[in-house]
Amino acid sequence: MIEEYIPFHKPLITEDEITEVTNTIRSGWWTTGPKTIRFEKEFNSYIGAKFSVTASSWTAAAHLALEAIGLKEGDEVIIPSMTFTATAEIVCYFKAKPVIVDVQKDSFNIDPVEIEKAITKKTKAIIPVHYGGNPCDMDEIISIAKKHNLKIIEDAAHSLPAWYKNKMIGTISDVTCFSFYVTKTLATGEGGMLCTNDEEIAKRCSVMRLHGINSDAWKRYSNEGSWYYEVVAPGFKYNFTDIQAALGIAQLKKIDFMLEERKKIFREYNNLLGHNDLLKLYEYKRDRKPSYHLYPILLDIDKLSISRSQFIDELKKEGIGVSVHFIPLYRHPYYRDTFKLSEKGFPVSEYLYPKIITLPIWPGMSEEQVERVADTINNLTRKFVK
Ligand SMILES: Cc1ncc(COP(=O)(O)O)c(C=O)c1O
Repeated sequence: MIEEYIPFHKPLITEDEITEVTNTIRSGWWTTGPKTIRFEKEFNSYIGAKFSVTASSWTAAAHLALEAIGLKEGDEVIIPSMTFTATAEIVCYFKAKPVIVDVQKDSFNIDPVEIEKAITKKTKAIIPVHYGGNPCDMDEIISIAKKHNLKIIEDAAHSLPAWYKNKMIGTISDVTCFSFYVTKTLATGEGGMLCTNDEEIAKRCSVMRLHGINSDAWKRYSNEGSWYYEVVAPGFKYNFTDIQAALGIAQLKKIDFMLEERKKIFREYNNLLGHNDLLKLYEYKRDRKPSYHLYPILLDIDKLSISRSQFIDELKKEGIGVSVHFIPLYRHPYYRDTFKLSEKGFPVSEYLYPKIITLPIWPGMSEEQVERVADTINNLTRKFVK
């Protein structure tokens, strides 16, 4: 009997999302409008930042942030190896250089020691990525940034919600960007949010996300607005839509419930996989509360007769969808060739990469599904032990 496929991710869809979206469609206001403004307000009060600005994706939000801090051609921005290409490509948009550094063995997060080593006169900013929603060592990163007068743009694509030493991610440094891509902890299909306490940055991003026209321009087709607008810079088409906001409003209502669901799954996996000495589980430090966006395991490949890639094929045959976060940036042809990077420069990432598998962890996953994933992994490691 072929068992039901367990996907790597499935968004939690309830009547709330359907009602909000349907109401928005019926209202006739589909693009940026009152729901987007409401979502920004509700998100802002949830996070406790001074300003929250929506954008069409994390990539758009972080691009806006780098523009707002004045990144220029030839500047350098320090980023970790274990991330998605978006973290690096936004730096390339400016003909600036993403300086890719190695991560810590336990957290897979950017290593502050490596940041210090990579600083030059051209360094303008650091983009720490909170891997799987596990906050980076922000005290150390902030102190390096202060010492060298650098800006921090946190990549919090995985981190809604997460806390570092009781401070919510989104309130700590210059700018924090969240992603609402469909696999993320709050999903609007595509979408992003930028949080900052700096009014100038918030204003600049609001203007630049809609063609460089003033921030109330979205009202120009309503009876409150005016037909007249002025362009102050050649901006971008990065605005958020009310249809996305409808999903965001509905999802934000259950953000704490969804966190509890992922935490429950995290604990279940830990119980079921903890005794397997052919795996290493991911651990969190006591001084931070993660979002549990990912559940990574490290296979002890030296003790197995198959590779990680073959292991994933075996899981697929058993109807289980998994992923790998991440293929380190320096392994992608573009970054490797353009910035002359070699695997030798990244010993920790090279240790981690051949072993990592990220397991399904999404609200709505049943106990039976979690058990099936864990049992299959335990059976496969037993089957393929050398
Ligand atoms: C760490 C990280 N940063 C940035 C992004 C980009 O997010 P978006 O698709 O919203 O642009 C992702 C998306 O997967 C990600 O995992």
